Amino acid sequence: MCGIVGFVGSKNEKNAKDIVIDGLKKLEYRGYDSSGIAINTGNKLEIRKKVGRIANLENHIKKEKLNSNIAIGHTRWATHGAPTDENAHPHFSSNHKIAVVHNGIIENFVELREWLNQDFGIQFESETDTEVIAHLIGIYYDGDLQEAVYKAVDKMKGAYAIGVIADEEPDKLVAVRKDAPLVAGLGQGENFIASDIPALLKHVREIYLIENNETVVVTADDIKIYNQDRKLVKRDVFHVNWDAEAAEKDGYDHFMLKEIHEQPKGLSETLNRRIDEKGNLTLDGINMTKEDIEKFDKVFIVACGTAYHAGLVGKGLIEKLAGIPVEVDIASEFRYREPFVNEKTLFIAISQSGETLDTLEALREAKKKGARILSVVNVVGSSVARESDDVFFTWAGPEIAVASTKAYTTQLMCMYIIGLYMGKTKGFLSEEVYNTYIKELKEIPEKLEELLKTEEVIANIAKDIYKKEQVFFIGRGTDSAVAYEGSLKLKEISYINSFAIAAGELKHGTIALIEKDTLVITLATQDKLYEKTLSNIQEVKARGAFVIGVAKEKNKKIENQADKVMYIPDCMDEVAPLLAVIPLQILAYYIAKERGCDIDKPKNLAKSVTVE
Ligand code: F6R
Repeated sequence: MCGIVGFVGSKNEKNAKDIVIDGLKKLEYRGYDSSGIAINTGNKLEIRKKVGRIANLENHIKKEKLNSNIAIGHTRWATHGAPTDENAHPHFSSNHKIAVVHNGIIENFVELREWLNQDFGIQFESETDTEVIAHLIGIYYDGDLQEAVYKAVDKMKGAYAIGVIADEEPDKLVAVRKDAPLVAGLGQGENFIASDIPALLKHVREIYLIENNETVVVTADDIKIYNQDRKLVKRDVFHVNWDAEAAEKDGYDHFMLKEIHEQPKGLSETLNRRIDEKGNLTLDGINMTKEDIEKFDKVFIVACGTAYHAGLVGKGLIEKLAGIPVEVDIASEFRYREPFVNEKTLFIAISQSGETLDTLEALREAKKKGARILSVVNVVGSSVARESDDVFFTWAGPEIAVASTKAYTTQLMCMYIIGLYMGKTKGFLSEEVYNTYIKELKEIPEKLEELLKTEEVIANIAKDIYKKEQVFFIGRGTDSAVAYEGSLKLKEISYINSFAIAAGELKHGTIALIEKDTLVITLATQDKLYEKTLSNIQEVKARGAFVIGVAKEKNKKIENQADKVMYIPDCMDEVAPLLAVIPLQILAYYIAKERGCDIDKPKNLAKSVTVE
């Protein structure tokens, strides 16, 4: 995910750079590891770009005039190549006649790169896929930008929204959309493009929603839209009547809810990028051979908070799928307890931000002892990613809400993929079991869409229970790992004192706290443990507890014991965690909302914990 903005004003407009930078700030939620702009200062293109937040770019250019009536800008969420000044957009063609910003991924960029290098002698200045677009347009350009863009697009495979300007055409911007968002904003004597509406609301409220495979040609006085056949199309303007902040959240009240709803897409990204039509896994970033995997006699999964909870599910999976014993540890504990780690250890660090100091230090500790380091990270170019031997990206896109949701489920998906990959490569896993997992995993995004439709039912349950000051989460097997995550989600955003425990462990002490009306949320999604979990519900009901169950749709018997039930679609037990956590995320969200909490920024918490 990245953000692009473009502006074309009348000949006397000089302020294009500030207009574009201002727009980029509204898109920082789409990516924020580097940013840049390209302007035309009168038949000469200038590019300025800087790693870090947009404020860094502003500081970098604050003493320069850089007057122009046209500009394109970009805020980056790195995919190909670390966040550096060189990899930041815009990118130039080799003769600096063309500048390009891009959101998306060019799937055939390796072939295109080779072709451009071998046949045209083009040298690349960055590691990005985007740079090939600039060079492609560059080789086709002979004074007609629109034609050159058409020719380049014919060669490109993948998903993209691009914005392009040429030095010889200082009054024109060409943009294309294919499977990545793009809008055009209609002003008076000035026009715009952007990845998303908020970037434009300060200037315009009349928007053209650009459709797939359409090309837009923007000048100060006109916006022309061409379809896939390159024919001019007529589009009605869409009048925006919401405010900029609501638009950034896509109409959701909070980023957390938006991110909960982004999970089907996030999970299908995480999985589908690694799986071909035949169901084979192609793992970018992991270069382990059969011999490497056979050498491991132990796996350590180390992480903090929600990422640690993903590790708890990962333990069961990797043990089962790859036949290797796994220990899961909290990073701040691992560091100081002198664990048995050596060159036969595979150390898996899980981290959304990739900057959590405890996780990073634990990784360094394991590395010193000779372990092979594999990280599961969301932020490309982060410290954890850079210091690992192998990196497996979660591809969840930027997570803005402090409470992690889509990062967690994509971390879980990575645990399945890693387990399957290790088990298959090692020859531990039968073809039949492997195929069953792949089938079940592929069905998850659609099932999740279904599950999200029960949001209102869950929101109503939240209305009944939001005044509780104490909650227990219980479950057995992988349900207990999900219980920990559900409990953390609730406590961090609603400030309710919540506690998770393996259901079978209740009677060994904690049951002393159960009394009339104590709220107990019970996960019962594991068929093989279902009856036992129902017995645990009876234990707490006998002491007067109010019980909310989470169960598969087919398992209705729970209605005889629980006071309320939140259902998840039927699935194989092993993949249930990917679904079971969703009602808990939604419940936590609506309870916090009823209590009037600051959901996206809970008190005392930070998104990235870079202190010990
Ligand atoms: C809770 C949450 C935290 C993080 C933890 C680790 O919702 O987000 O518990 O999971 O601070 O952060 P990362 O994954 O960035 O290492």
